[in-house]
Amino acid sequence: MTRISALGHHQPEHVMTNEDLTRLVDTSDEWIVRRTGIATRRIAREESVADLATAAAGKALAGAGLDPGAIGQVIVATCSAIDRVPSIAAQVAGRLGIPAAVAFDLNNGCAGFTTALATADHAVRAGAARHALVIGAEKMSDVTDWTDRSSCVLLGDGAGAAVVSADGDENGIGPVVWGSDPSRRDTVRMRDAWQPRFAQDGQSVFRWATTELAPYAREACRRAGVGTGDLAGIVTHQANLRIIEALVRQLDAPGAVVAQDVVESGNTSAASVPLALAKLVERRAVPAGAPVLLFAFGGGLSWAGQVVRC
Ligand code: ACO
Repeated sequence: MTRISALGHHQPEHVMTNEDLTRLVDTSDEWIVRRTGIATRRIAREESVADLATAAAGKALAGAGLDPGAIGQVIVATCSAIDRVPSIAAQVAGRLGIPAAVAFDLNNGCAGFTTALATADHAVRAGAARHALVIGAEKMSDVTDWTDRSSCVLLGDGAGAAVVSADGDENGIGPVVWGSDPSRRDTVRMRDAWQPRFAQDGQSVFRWATTELAPYAREACRRAGVGTGDLAGIVTHQANLRIIEALVRQLDAPGAVVAQDVVESGNTSAASVPLALAKLVERRAVPAGAPVLLFAFGGGLSWAGQVVRC
């Protein structure tokens, strides 16, 4: 069996407010708060995706009390990294002194971290590694179109990391529910070989997320043997507070603390779930070992979620 043995998070220091954005595009604090719930986001100036990932991963590794040599797998979920080779995972492994792990990046848009978590869970269960480091890291500001008011107000930078460990009889990571709808693959895009820029049909994503995804989230609970009423926490992809509220309403989980990190961090794509989860656990908002639903969705269109106990 496997469990998340430690978490870590890191965000750049610079806070960009809604007021700051009014100096770049025709928008207002009132519009952004009313339509998205976002108040601030962190923007990296000097730091790269590898810097953000290494900082979060280093904290998770320290939290697990593990020697770097114990890590057998490093996966970085990212869709904003410009570096192709060496992978961000190889850079993290090198900088943290992890000597011989399989290390690779994984891109499944905003569902990247929960996809990577399932991938690591499967590898550890299969005996391919005893401990895996799973990281979601994004510098969305590198791929933001700062002239597009419908997307630049949403995005932010940051990283979150988890150590996945083989652990006796405990079932700390539930079965994943994942999939995609390739017929809607162009709804969220990042194209242009020389200067990638994020673009999306925001309304389509909004409608899809608020009307079609709840059954998958419920299925993740069912497969973990947890009723939604028993959830202590819910961490969805932090895209928009209205989406989070609409999705959670359909889950009928009155006892769950719902992560709302989007308010201060914006949409950090693959980093959003581990960032929000690490903060929730750090401030002890959910009891240790209690079931927490992770559920992420985005470009693909794709989704991936599972119930974890931290
Ligand atoms: N400030 C002021 N006005 C704006 C802004 C802005 N920042 N952005 C758009 N508007 C205007 C539009 O131009 C439009 O004006 P019009 O009526 O004159 O044409 C009006 O506001 C309404 O626009 P809508 O697109 O209908 O606004 P909506 O309420 O749908 O909110 C939003 C847009 C926030 C993008 C929403 O659709 C959303 O959050 N979608 C989901 C995005 C998402 O979750 N993406 C995740 C997938 S990928 C990833 O996470 C990396």
